[in-house]
Amino acid sequence: MIDALGNPQSVLLLGGTSEIGLATVEALASDRPLRVVLAGRPSERLDAATARLTARGCAVQVVEFDARAVETHADVVKAAFAHGDVDVALVAFGLLGDNEQAWTDASTAVELAQVNYTAAVSVGVALGEHMSAQGHGALVAFSSVAGERARRSNFVYGSTKAGMDAFYTGLTEALRPAGVTVTVVRPGFVHTRMTEGLKAAPLSTTPEAVAAVVVDAIRTRKELVWAPGALRYVMSVLRHVPRPLFRRLPV
Ligand SMILES: NC(=O)c1ccc[n+]([C@@H]2O[C@H](COP(=O)([O-])OP(=O)(O)OC[C@H]3O[C@@H](n4cnc5c(N)ncnc54)[C@H](OP(=O)(O)O)[C@@H]3O)[C@@H](O)[C@H]2O)c1
Repeated sequence: MIDALGNPQSVLLLGGTSEIGLATVEALASDRPLRVVLAGRPSERLDAATARLTARGCAVQVVEFDARAVETHADVVKAAFAHGDVDVALVAFGLLGDNEQAWTDASTAVELAQVNYTAAVSVGVALGEHMSAQGHGALVAFSSVAGERARRSNFVYGSTKAGMDAFYTGLTEALRPAGVTVTVVRPGFVHTRMTEGLKAAPLSTTPEAVAAVVVDAIRTRKELVWAPGALRYVMSVLRHVPRPLFRRLPV
C-alpha cells in the first residue's frame, strides 16, 4: 500500500532499462528500499539495472517482457502481481526512432505504433484489471509533449504518443472509482539514451528532474503532469498556433 506520506512499498517498471523509469524507481526508493519488478528484454543493461537497485537494498524480480509480443502481456503483468500488491506501475517503454525513416518505411512505422501505442494499451488493460482487483495503486504512463500536436519533425512518434495519451487519460476516469490513480506524464526533451546525439530542445531536462515530478504526482495523486511544468503553458499556446505559422516554427 502507498502509505499516508505517499511512499509505496512495491513498484513495477515496464521498460526495465528506461533511464527515466529507473530514475523514478530510485527516487521512490530514496527513503526506504522497495520491492521492484523490472519487466524488460534480457540484456546487459537490464542486468546492470538489477544490480544498481539491488545495491540500494531493493528486492528485485525480473520478468521478461517484449512490447511487441502482445500475446504475452497478460502473463507478464500477472507475474508482476504474483508476489503481492503492486503499489506503483510505471509504463516507461518506448521507441523514438528516425522520423524520416518511419514515415517512408511501413515496417519502421508499424514497430513504433506497436511498441508505443498497441503495447501500451495492451499492458494498460492488464494493469487496470489487476489494480482494480487490489483496490488501490498508482499507474504512471509516460506520454510526451510530442503527442499534444504533431510536428513535421517527429509526427510518427507523436501520433503514437497521442494515442497512448488518450488511452491513459480515459483509463484515469475508468479506474478512479476503483481507488486507482492514473497519471499521464508529458515530458519534453529529456537527456537519455533515447535522445542521445539529438539537438536538445528548449526546456530540456534530466531523468532525475522528471522523476521528481512523477514522485510528487504519485504523492499528491495528480492525474496529468508536464516535465518540466512550464511546458504545460508552452504547449497550451502551441496547440492553438495557426498551422501556417506552426509549420515555420523551429520545433
Ligand atoms: N527521453 C525523452 O526525451 C522522452 C521525452 C518524452 C517522453 N519520453 C518517453 O518516456 C519513456 C521512457 O523513455 P527514456 O527516455 O527513459 O528512454 P530509454 O532510456 O531509451 O528507455 C526506453 C525503454 O523502452 C524499452 N523498449 C523499447 N522497445 C521495447 C520492446 N520492444 N520491448 C520491451 N521494451 C522495449 C527499452 O528497453 P531495451 O533496453 O530492451 O531497449 C527501454 O527500457 C518512453 O515511453 C519515452 O517515449 C521520453
